[in-house]
Amino acid sequence: MSRTIFVLFALLAQTALFGQTDPWWKHAVIYEIYPRSFQDSNGDGMGDLNGITQRLDYLKDLGVDAIWIAPIYPSPQIDFGYDISDYQDIDKQYGTLADFDHLLAEANKRNIRIVMDAVMNHTSDKHPWFIESASSRTNPKSDWYIWHDGKGPGKPPNNWLSTFGHSAWQFTPARDQYYYHYFYIQQPDLNWRNPAVEKGMFDMLRFWLDRGVAGFRLDAVPTLFEDPSLQNEEVLGGTNKFGDPNEMTTLQENLPEVHGVIKRMRSMVNTFPGNRVLIGETYLPNVEELDKWYGGAKHDELQLPMDMQVGFEPKLDPKEFRQRINDAETKINGNQPLFVFDNHDNPRIDARYGDGVHDKAINKMLATILFTTRSTALMYYGDEIEMPTTEPTSKDQVKDPIGITGWPKEKGRDGERTPMQWNTSVSAGFSTNPHTWLPVAPDYKRVNVEVESKQPDSVFNWYKNLIALRRNNPALHDGTMKMLDIGNEQVLAWTRTAPTGEVVVVACSFSPTPQVVSLESALGAGKTAAILAVNGTQATSVSLKAISLSPYGSIIAQLK
Ligand code: GLC
Repeated sequence: MSRTIFVLFALLAQTALFGQTDPWWKHAVIYEIYPRSFQDSNGDGMGDLNGITQRLDYLKDLGVDAIWIAPIYPSPQIDFGYDISDYQDIDKQYGTLADFDHLLAEANKRNIRIVMDAVMNHTSDKHPWFIESASSRTNPKSDWYIWHDGKGPGKPPNNWLSTFGHSAWQFTPARDQYYYHYFYIQQPDLNWRNPAVEKGMFDMLRFWLDRGVAGFRLDAVPTLFEDPSLQNEEVLGGTNKFGDPNEMTTLQENLPEVHGVIKRMRSMVNTFPGNRVLIGETYLPNVEELDKWYGGAKHDELQLPMDMQVGFEPKLDPKEFRQRINDAETKINGNQPLFVFDNHDNPRIDARYGDGVHDKAINKMLATILFTTRSTALMYYGDEIEMPTTEPTSKDQVKDPIGITGWPKEKGRDGERTPMQWNTSVSAGFSTNPHTWLPVAPDYKRVNVEVESKQPDSVFNWYKNLIALRRNNPALHDGTMKMLDIGNEQVLAWTRTAPTGEVVVVACSFSPTPQVVSLESALGAGKTAAILAVNGTQATSVSLKAISLSPYGSIIAQLK
């Protein structure tokens, strides 16, 4: 059997096996792997594909349905793979295409799907397309990137800024013109108004779909288009962490043209069997904008644009969480929410939500929201062991270039990218090499998979339990969702009701002091519920009249 036929067969067999009518991604736990930092198999101090393959049994045991792997393509590694110089191969530091096929086949055997990272907004400046485009104004690829004349010697076309600091324009003497880069100088933006660019990119997606990947996480997709007027962005006053003036980005992102591309991409992806999925890196200002990325009621764009409104909410405020979760229930035309609390671009959960005292309970509470709401769940490697953010302490340690440009206000993203902590051995079991590309976090002897798996009340076991409940309990797997006690300023509570009628109630405390909540008026006087999982008071049953929650406690219980 050829490799492609084998993989397609495996994908179809998985769907049949689960007897699902829903597409797989609707109930999935998707696990983001930052490949440099997950598992090193060859002792060079950097993660690789064979390392991921070695850890598939671990992922299976945790209950993961799909892994999204951050870019593994050949790259100068300025942005650690998000600057791609060849979209149809594997960077040598991660292995080979044969290693990739092996990973895919082994993952398929375990019903784990692979989602690739598709970086469509820009290439590396070392990609052959850009090298050609930059060589003259008349070459066949001259219009593949965003080129413009300056306003005069040394003067870029306008005031647009790169989100990674300073002007978004870079001068190229061979063309006597500037090219536009929303990210690093080495990441020139493609010109999506040129149909040849769309074709080139869609061909690349087909290459991976043919190989058997389950879909894509579309990187930075709201920035595909820029306003052709090239007017200046509005200046807001004050300066940002790079010392640049604060400006709007209205002309640089979320332009309506992007939705045409996404619709065509979805139609193309739909021609492949096995419910391939499109996930979007969609930082958006509100739920109305989010709904557009699904195609609203037409459901013809992304299946899963990330909802960053919930998991990147700046503080633990139950009113805000209730509102935003409810928006995802009621304002996205019945589309499937995708919540995410963590990724490789933001400080980890401890740094954003922890109070230094109740971090473990807070982690469990956020996991409860992630796994027991109706959302598809996207988690980041290390979340399951409460891995901490470990920022560099001096500028000379920084690897991520934005940390060098912005030091000390912006320390870069190294802190959330440290090696996975597997056990207490050298380099936390991530590598046999004591010198890893980023240092292992100092707490690894305490915070690691091996140690936490033996502690019944660890975050690790909480994750495992919740993921299993979400898979096996009909209400948590498939139930409708309703918020309860909506005036409560300390506790977020909701029910999930299975198609077969079982009701599960979930309550999460956002308070550092013990709370008692009554859900009797919402769910019926005198009712009790059997506890499925609780972080706090140990019991087997709870009266809905008075549910006790410890600081930041969570409880999941099935109505009797
Ligand atoms: C996305 C990635 C980020 C990268 C950027 C540019 O935001 O998540 O890591 O630096 O795109 O590709």
